[in-house]
Amino acid sequence: MPVIAVIGAQWGDEGKGKVVDMLAKKARVVVRFSGGDNAGHTVINPLGEFSLHLIPSGIFSSQTTCIIGNGVAINPTVLLKEIDQLNQRGVDTSQLIISDRAHLIMPYHILLDSLEEKWRGGQAIGTTGRGIGPAFADKVARLGIRAGELLDKEILRKQLRFILDYKNAILTKVHEVNPLSFDEVYRQYCQYGERLMPYIRETTEILETALHRDELILLEGAQGTLLDPDFGTYPYTTSSSPLAGEGSLGSGISGNKITGVLGVFKVYCTRVGSGPMPTELTDGTGDLIRETAHEYGTTTGRARRCGWFDAIAARFSNRINGFTRIAFTRLDILDTLPHLKICVGYQLDGKVIDFFPANIAALERCQPIYEELPGWQVPTTHIRQYQQLPPQARQYVERLAELTTCPISFICVGPEREQTIEVRPIL
Ligand code: GDP
Ligand code: IMO
Ligand code: MG
Repeated sequence: MPVIAVIGAQWGDEGKGKVVDMLAKKARVVVRFSGGDNAGHTVINPLGEFSLHLIPSGIFSSQTTCIIGNGVAINPTVLLKEIDQLNQRGVDTSQLIISDRAHLIMPYHILLDSLEEKWRGGQAIGTTGRGIGPAFADKVARLGIRAGELLDKEILRKQLRFILDYKNAILTKVHEVNPLSFDEVYRQYCQYGERLMPYIRETTEILETALHRDELILLEGAQGTLLDPDFGTYPYTTSSSPLAGEGSLGSGISGNKITGVLGVFKVYCTRVGSGPMPTELTDGTGDLIRETAHEYGTTTGRARRCGWFDAIAARFSNRINGFTRIAFTRLDILDTLPHLKICVGYQLDGKVIDFFPANIAALERCQPIYEELPGWQVPTTHIRQYQQLPPQARQYVERLAELTTCPISFICVGPEREQTIEVRPIL
């Protein structure tokens, strides 16, 4: 019963979309299990280039059912736009299913996201502004509205009336902005319900059937491990868990059914938004990586902060996810560099440490200790066999895997589906 979770192992944007698209043709089901449209997953395949925010990256494989799982917070406006855009480009979305347990992002979530960021001032998280924090906060505060409620206008009316009164009190009394109109929001979400009705249903049964039939299920992660609210650089994190464990909770598959956890890492690090990043490069090398790789966010267009591979963070990421294999992406981006650095320890207050501190003030003070390796300085984008990679490139990825303590399955040498080297089978 192969169930493989594809997990962002760093701060997001590792290339999860590319990896899931590549694996999807063998999968019966792909489930997005966390996050919302803060995610931006880029897929480049024979059908073109696509930026997916909510729809699983398996959507291009015609025999694959794609589920937006219960762990996702859905903005219906964004989802409908995404469905329309895919359809206009000839991509069939009839295999898409939305869990009736998935929470909805409401207009007040988006408003509150920006008002709370403003209130934080210099301590702003640098969120994507998609209402993610307020929506997941409402989920656990039991003030959420779920996709299933779109199917019954009376239930929706009752829920919205009760919640919107409370949200309007916060908007007007705390933030001193105008309230939202019940009629407008209700009308809008009734329309969404009409359009999304064919997609919304119970989803755990489909997964159980696929498990019984021994069919491949992929659990598509969003964000990255170091943005996890428990284990990431709190409070500079997102608000749902990007970890492999959430692959179970956010889809409704028992944890003991997950047979493989593929950790997706860039061969360097990037981060969007605020918060500590020990290996960040604020010099010309950081700029060179950003420009070569076009490291600008898929969702917000913001410049991504770039830095060397952090093996301390990578080993921590492996510890809390239990990676069974690694996919390294963007090896080609390093093709021109004469030397590469890997962070193998931190100097903290005069001591050498080999762990990722929970305390962000301590993490801010960590100075990376680097190991330097030679670059290869030849193009790799055309290579498809591991042994054909330059010896320095093999030495580099093997050292990264050794420090992360996990074997490599894939190495990506370009954004396109086939620009991938299979080093060993995924299971
Ligand atoms: P995700 O959020 O994890 O799916 O990643 P994003 O799509 O936000 O960002 C990854 C970016 O890297 C996308 O633009 C991909 O097309 C691109 N990409 C993925 N793998 C490779 C690779 O091996 N080489 C290059 N040059 N680009 C890659
Ligand atoms: P994918 O799935 C990179 C970051 C934001 C911000 C923090 C909180 O494409 O890898 P949020 O809007 O979630 O409240 O913002 O998390 N962030 C991401 N960074 N990739 C993502 O998703 C991200 N989703 C959220 O930049 O720092
Ligand atoms: Mg992304």
